[in-house]
Amino acid sequence: MKKTLLITGGAGFIGSHVVRLFVNNYPDYTIVNLDKLTYAGNLENLKDIEDKPNYIFEKGDIVDADFINQLFDKYQFDGVIHLAAESHVDRSIAEPMAFVMTNVVGTCNLLNAAKNAWKEGGYEGKRFYHVSTDEVYGELHNPEDFFTETTPYDPRSPYSASKASSDHFVRAYGNTYKLPVVITNCSNNYGPNHFPEKLLPLMINNILHNKPLPVYGKGENVRDWLFVVDHARAIDTVFHNGVLGETYNIGGFNEWKNIDIVKLVCKTMDSKLGREEGTSEKLITYVTDRAGHDLRYAIDATKIMKELGWEPSLQFEEGLDKTVTWFLDNQEWLDNVTSGNYQDYYKKMYS
Ligand code: NAD
Ligand code: DAU
Repeated sequence: MKKTLLITGGAGFIGSHVVRLFVNNYPDYTIVNLDKLTYAGNLENLKDIEDKPNYIFEKGDIVDADFINQLFDKYQFDGVIHLAAESHVDRSIAEPMAFVMTNVVGTCNLLNAAKNAWKEGGYEGKRFYHVSTDEVYGELHNPEDFFTETTPYDPRSPYSASKASSDHFVRAYGNTYKLPVVITNCSNNYGPNHFPEKLLPLMINNILHNKPLPVYGKGENVRDWLFVVDHARAIDTVFHNGVLGETYNIGGFNEWKNIDIVKLVCKTMDSKLGREEGTSEKLITYVTDRAGHDLRYAIDATKIMKELGWEPSLQFEEGLDKTVTWFLDNQEWLDNVTSGNYQDYYKKMYS
């Protein structure tokens, strides 16, 4: 069936995998990728699909309500998959207001535009999907505990507070205006195109350049890792089959202490680079802890698995191997990001 979908944040890490999956798997859909191209947006991520006839790129800011309303007028969207956000916790500690603007105000602008655009024709067949994070649930201490869809919200960083706030607005629009909404809360993603400010790509890049590997505090914090393509597959599943008004947690039942995952990256890199085992581990440097650093996240993904039949396609070791191989095969991508050259790609291709 023909549809026109708005995907926001499609030039970012997860968004680019979602755009690729939808453009390739749904040739009848027109996919409009709206992205501001902040430091995290990189159109090189989408090189392989940018010439497809069902793909359109629009540069713009979700904080600009007039622009968003015009975009809804122009395309008459049938659905929205909203990923655009400021996504890095450390940056939210340094610059919280950017997170309030994009994650809260930007999300509300999209909700208003969808509500106004869809109210006349009715909501039949329409869907507003908000892509959110497990960080809204706070942190876990008891090793037997997991975040479920009914865990009370307890955001503890400016980033997670802004995502929690946007989740609340999405639910409020669902309840008050009956906007057809659905939300997912996912754990830490890893994979190709991950921006090298985040733990795993930062470690890979620093190992390549023999630079220190900064581990916050004692490296005891726990994260639950999911391959990014499996997150994109889950988004496809929930967009098409998720029950409106519902929330689904997405995760890989794959918890790692930071220090253990960093050591595994070191071992994998040593082996692939033909270095003696233990070489990269010598670069590990314990540094000052992140302010308010959440101890442990762990998602219970039973609901999406049982009700919608989604499950991760990759074992973690395989996913990590693929990821490291991708970064080694795409060092130009990494160099373009670290040098800032990637920001010229838009000018070269689109203006
Ligand atoms: P990212 O930082 O890699 O990409 C964000 C994208 O949004 C970038 O392309 C950026 O240019 C764009 N953007 C930022 N501000 C914008 C604005 N005002 N207007 C338009 N575009 C704007 O982020 P990511 O890691 O791909 O995360 C995508 C989404 O998934 C976010 O909503 C994040 O909260 C959520 N999420 C991320 C993870 C993870 O592990 N990375 C896990 C769960 C949920
Ligand atoms: O849980 C989902 C969240 O995962 C997403 O919502 C966020 O958008 C995404 O950025 C990610 O947040 P984290 O803070 O968990 O990811 P980050 O890669 O920044 O850090 C992972 C862990 O590694 C965390 O415990 C902090 C630690 N860390 C991070 C960096 C960048 C270090 O020890 N050293 C580092 O240099």
